[in-house]
Amino acid sequence: MKPIQVGLLGIGTVGSGVFNVLHRNQEEIRRRAGRGIEIAMVADLDVERARKVVGEGVQVVNDARAVIANPDIDIVIELIGGYGVAKALVLEAIAAGKHVVTANKALLAVHGTEIFAAASAKGVMVAFEAAVAGGIPIIKALREGLTANRIQWLAGIINGTTNFILSEMRDKGLDFAVVLKEAQRLGYAEADPTFDIEGVDAAHKATIMSAIAFGIPVQFDKAYVEGITQLSATDIKYAEQLGYRIKLLGITKRVERTDATGKAVGGIELRVHPSLVPAKRLIANVEGAMNAVVVQGDAVGATLYYGKGAGSEPTASAVIADLVDITRLHTVDPLNRVPHLAFQPHTLDQAMS
Ligand code: HSE
Repeated sequence: MKPIQVGLLGIGTVGSGVFNVLHRNQEEIRRRAGRGIEIAMVADLDVERARKVVGEGVQVVNDARAVIANPDIDIVIELIGGYGVAKALVLEAIAAGKHVVTANKALLAVHGTEIFAAASAKGVMVAFEAAVAGGIPIIKALREGLTANRIQWLAGIINGTTNFILSEMRDKGLDFAVVLKEAQRLGYAEADPTFDIEGVDAAHKATIMSAIAFGIPVQFDKAYVEGITQLSATDIKYAEQLGYRIKLLGITKRVERTDATGKAVGGIELRVHPSLVPAKRLIANVEGAMNAVVVQGDAVGATLYYGKGAGSEPTASAVIADLVDITRLHTVDPLNRVPHLAFQPHTLDQAMS
């Protein structure tokens, strides 16, 4: 069967990771998806850089619309970021009947309702595992693994840049600005690092998780957002002396509140701010650019998800998981919208080889 054809918009840090991992693990991925997955076309403003990554054999263009217009492309990966061009392209790809995979948390947190409605009307998927917590499969956990639960709350370290900054300031006594530069060099920080350090990126991710956990629309505008720019080395030191670590947490939970008539009504809280976490807690010991999310469900209790929340291949891992899911829908089990977990038919010998 012909491999599923993928068009990639934007081949920077994450896009390169997607290309490299797809290539390196192509046999494993083909076996799991039931069909090959091929990046057939790449659009990037820097055509030369893109060519260096993908080599010969992949069409490289500087016009993203040429990818969307290509009738052979089944899935469009959007890795441009931001709300402007990316929003227009995602909506155009959906209108053209393409499935979309995106790592764009800002876009989904702000315009998700419109985008999901467009995808639903067109009968295509918008998959976004990479938008939250990089390589940690937290979207799948919330939507699939914990689907039986009434989620009570979730809290997490969901911005690698700020966690890296707080860890380095504490451990090495380094200056905020120096560590931020290092986070940018390592590819953790957003193009505009203000989004990281002011808590906006974490709030985008918390907004998406909140929508899935509680079945509410994405409502970034309702989030309370506070970053780490007001923290000093002294705050970090004093917290340490009192037995706490300062972590930038994204928190969303069910709350009881009263309406104007005094009647108890349910509500959802959504906030990002620096928090004092007792040093003995697992989440207090999440260091560097690592992410961790704790989800409390009524049936399962507390569950913890930990891993790399940023960087090229960890994020690529999540993008490719979405590609595999969509490919399975086309290949293995078209009537079941949630991919099943049955093993692909292969022998143990084949699996070991
Ligand atoms: N800037 C983000 C972070 C990248 O630092 O976590 C991953 O979303």
